[in-house]
Amino acid sequence: MTASTRVLVTGAGGPAGVAVIRSLLARDDVEVLAADMDGWASGLYLVPEEGRRLVPPGRSPEFVDALIRMCRDDRVDVLFSTVDVELPGLAARRDELEAVGTDLAAPGHETLVTCLDKFALAERVTGHARLPVTRLLNAEGVGTDWTFPVIVKPRSGAGSRGVRLIADRVALEALGTDESILIQENLPGDEFSVDVLAGLDGEVIAAVPRSRERVDSGVSIAGRTVRRDELSETASAVARAIGLTGVANVQLRYSADGEPALLEVNPRFPGAMPLTIASGVDMPSLLLDLVLGRPVPSSVDFRELANVRYLEDVFVAPGDVLISEHAGHSEDPEG
Ligand SMILES: Nc1ncnc2c1ncn2[C@@H]1O[C@H](COP(=O)(O)OP(=O)(O)O)[C@@H](O)[C@H]1O
Ligand SMILES: [Mg+2]
Repeated sequence: MTASTRVLVTGAGGPAGVAVIRSLLARDDVEVLAADMDGWASGLYLVPEEGRRLVPPGRSPEFVDALIRMCRDDRVDVLFSTVDVELPGLAARRDELEAVGTDLAAPGHETLVTCLDKFALAERVTGHARLPVTRLLNAEGVGTDWTFPVIVKPRSGAGSRGVRLIADRVALEALGTDESILIQENLPGDEFSVDVLAGLDGEVIAAVPRSRERVDSGVSIAGRTVRRDELSETASAVARAIGLTGVANVQLRYSADGEPALLEVNPRFPGAMPLTIASGVDMPSLLLDLVLGRPVPSSVDFRELANVRYLEDVFVAPGDVLISEHAGHSEDPEG
């Protein structure tokens, strides 16, 4: 029997964090530590008391230093961050994590930065997968020969904030110019999220498309996995174009001509991960094996499955609730 691997999972209060924690708790060779900035984060209480940790907010300047210290002091073998604001800072200092003995189970810094900017993402993916026509909101972009309506949205956005349908040229010209905003071909068809797992060499191991039938606070709470090659293939082509290693959620939507096209990539675990796991691809567990250098199949298949979701209570002695200075999550944990 191999010695148990110590894994720290951040974002324990979010649905993605809970999904990763549960996946790893199901293994008998892993000791799971759970972290969040909020002492009321539910996932903290899924792990034994000695494995619960409070961390500074992911946006705060001391976050990465605090995590590196925690990984060193706790002898963490592998770190999973499920919070998007944490990821670029951690990935930028992957070497320092490695120096204290911790592997970061996340895409590379360059991939993360590309995904943060939907314009950089579109440029990177051009020629590799179908994209909606995408321009900046500047004189050239406004002057493009658009078919209306068009979409405008922030280059860096989340939770559908700032996404608007613009009916005609008059309305588009009325917006003025702002290069932090994109103009995009409207994709009028059905939308799918594809959870992709790529090996550390960038080879795609699984791409599981799913519909989001009901969404609450940005998280899919009901949906179904769908076996459709064109969705898996488009998402895989996007993953290869951005050099994905690890897990990302690729959002696609059908164009007027009936082809799936790229909306955006969220380079982290989605809140709907339990459906992908139940469909046959346990991405957190597979990613852990990849990071540990253990054998993983080159391709993992899945079956179609639907899910609904309900809240479940976890009861804790009041004195066992960790006291944190910070509360809640400002990010929409999309997925
Ligand atoms: N080009 C587009 N055509 C049609 N709908 C779009 C388009 N871009 C965005 N949307 C809609 O807005 C939602 C949010 O856009 P997205 O690009 O995923 O940004 P974010 O989720 O980061 O806010 C999408 O899920 C989709 O429903
Ligand atoms: Mg989105």
